[in-house]
Amino acid sequence: MGVIFIPVGLVTLRASHCVIFHSMVVEIVDRYDIDCVPEPSRMDKVSYIQDDSIPKNCSRFMKVHKYMKAPIYIYYQLDNYYQNHRRYVKSRSDKQLLDGQKYRDTSSCQPVESNNNRPIVPCGLIAWSLFNDTFEFIREGAELKVNRKNIAWKSDRGHKFGKNVYPFNFQNGTLIGGGKLNPEIPLSDQEDLIVWMRTSALPSFRKLYGRIEEDLDVDDVVVVNLMNNYNTYSFGGKKKLVLSTSSWLGGKNDFLGHACVFVGCSSLTLAIIFMLLHALWRHELFTLEQEKLFRVIRTRSTYI
Ligand SMILES: *[C@@H]1O[C@H](CO)[C@@H](O)[C@H](O)[C@H]1NC(C)=O
Ligand SMILES: *[C@@H]1O[C@H](CO)[C@@H](O)[C@H](O)[C@H]1NC(C)=O
Ligand SMILES: *[C@@H]1O[C@H](CO)[C@@H](O)[C@H](O)[C@H]1NC(C)=O
Repeated sequence: MGVIFIPVGLVTLRASHCVIFHSMVVEIVDRYDIDCVPEPSRMDKVSYIQDDSIPKNCSRFMKVHKYMKAPIYIYYQLDNYYQNHRRYVKSRSDKQLLDGQKYRDTSSCQPVESNNNRPIVPCGLIAWSLFNDTFEFIREGAELKVNRKNIAWKSDRGHKFGKNVYPFNFQNGTLIGGGKLNPEIPLSDQEDLIVWMRTSALPSFRKLYGRIEEDLDVDDVVVVNLMNNYNTYSFGGKKKLVLSTSSWLGGKNDFLGHACVFVGCSSLTLAIIFMLLHALWRHELFTLEQEKLFRVIRTRSTYI
């Protein structure tokens, strides 16, 4: 395992680190969750975000420091968001996502399985907490077209989310967790939901929002008009907007490489330790047995 994992890890790390890729990936990151709260509300951000009477629009400026070639990937990044929590990850029904209301057992979706005694489609905490900030991009007074199609994995769209399954009774309770879904569009085309439901293994993650299909030049200023809807304030989460030209492993992400190297090194270390133990113990056992044998022989010989 060590022999396999270490080289794989090093190759992966190089891919996201090496000079060529590094210079190819251009990224602009803008943390907006604090700046988008008006100054007087910053003491109590939670009541700001929960107050529907306050408009949540916000404008940000992103300066392009290096030429960015299209397609430019738009990600939102959440930090300190534990999508990997066991009860969160399990709160979904894959059968229902595929078959809709034909599949009646939504018990796996607790605590968001039904409302007014009618099932929720899609049920569960993951769907219920759908991210709902929205972004618009303007450059020199003209809107930059954002392509929001094909942002989810093709296999997810084709095989995990039904073509004839429509949202039903969704976000219709008293406690709204996140975005709403258009009930006219089948789940297989609700790509934001599909992206969101591929849960992240780490508490800091990026999810694809769309693609800008025009190049951005040095010193361009992109005005971002966003709706700061999503409540990360009650658990101290951070929200960032990322424009990236990405790399073949999907942006800068060292986790995979580090994980491989770690597994590889631990395997090798364990292998060496066990080999030493094996050698030592076999030796000791052997001498013990030998001694016993000699003693027996000695006693026998005295008899003889
Ligand atoms: C929000 O929208 C309103 C009305 O469209 C506008 O007057 C206001 O300046 C906007 N606020 C921000 C922070 O962009
Ligand atoms: C929302 O719930 C009400 C009952 O509280 C129900 O009459 C209505 O049909 C539901 N809406 C949707 C879209 O499911
Ligand atoms: C967005 O999600 C928050 C919860 O994080 C919710 O309170 C709010 O009503 C939602 N807003 C929209 C417009 O969907």
